[in-house]
Amino acid sequence: MKIFLDSANLESIKTYNDMGILDGVTTNPSLLSKEKGDPRKVMNEIVRIVKGPVNLEVIGTDYEVMIEEAHRLKKYGENVVVKIPMIPAGLRAVKRLAQEGISTNVTLIFSSNQAILAAKSGASYVSPFIGRLDDNGQDGMSIVREITQIFANYKFETEILVASIRHPIHVIEAGKCGADIVTLPPEILQKMFTHPLTDKGLNGFLSDWNKVKDLNPDLLF
Ligand code: G3P
Repeated sequence: MKIFLDSANLESIKTYNDMGILDGVTTNPSLLSKEKGDPRKVMNEIVRIVKGPVNLEVIGTDYEVMIEEAHRLKKYGENVVVKIPMIPAGLRAVKRLAQEGISTNVTLIFSSNQAILAAKSGASYVSPFIGRLDDNGQDGMSIVREITQIFANYKFETEILVASIRHPIHVIEAGKCGADIVTLPPEILQKMFTHPLTDKGLNGFLSDWNKVKDLNPDLLF
C-alpha cells in the first residue's frame, strides 16, 4: 500500500518525507489556497522535496485549457501527475495526455462507473472521494470495493488512489480492499502513529532504565 500526503503544507510534507513513509503527494486548488505565498512557488518546492508522484490539478474545464495547463504543470518536474476532473472534456484530455506520455489522476470520482470510464480513457490513477460520499449518506468504501474488483477482473493498470479519507479506519478498510494508494491529510497520518499503550510502554522503559542508571552513573551505550 502506498501512502500519499493530501496537503500543500511544506512543513508537513518535509516532516513525513524525512521519515521515509511518503510515496507521493496530492494537492488541489483548495489545499493550495490554504497556504501562504505564491502557489507556483509552493508547487515548485513540493516537487523538489518529494521524489514520488506529485499531483497538481488543472483549473480549466475546457479541453484546450486543460491540455495547456497540463503542459505547464508538467514543467514543474518529471514526477508531476496532472489531476483532471471527472467530466467529459476531462476524459478527452486524459486520452490525449496519455498519448503524450503524461500521467493523469482523474479526480472527483463518486461512482464505480466514473472510475471505469476514467480507466478506459487512459488515466494513470482514479481518485474516489470516500469521505464526501459518507457525508452524503452513502457508503464511500463500497465503491472502493467495487472498483478494486472490477479493475482486477479486467487487469486495468489504472491505480486506485483513495481520497477524502477522514479517519484511520478508512486507511485499514482501503488496504483490505486492495486499493493501491491512500492519500491522507497530515492530521489523519498523525493519528496512525499514536497509541496510548506505546506512550505508556515507552515511559515505563525509560523510568526503569533511569533506576539502573542511578545505580551505575557511568553506564552508557
Ligand atoms: O485530494 C482531495 C480529497 O482528498 C478531498 O478531501 O476532505 O476535502 O473531502 P476532502
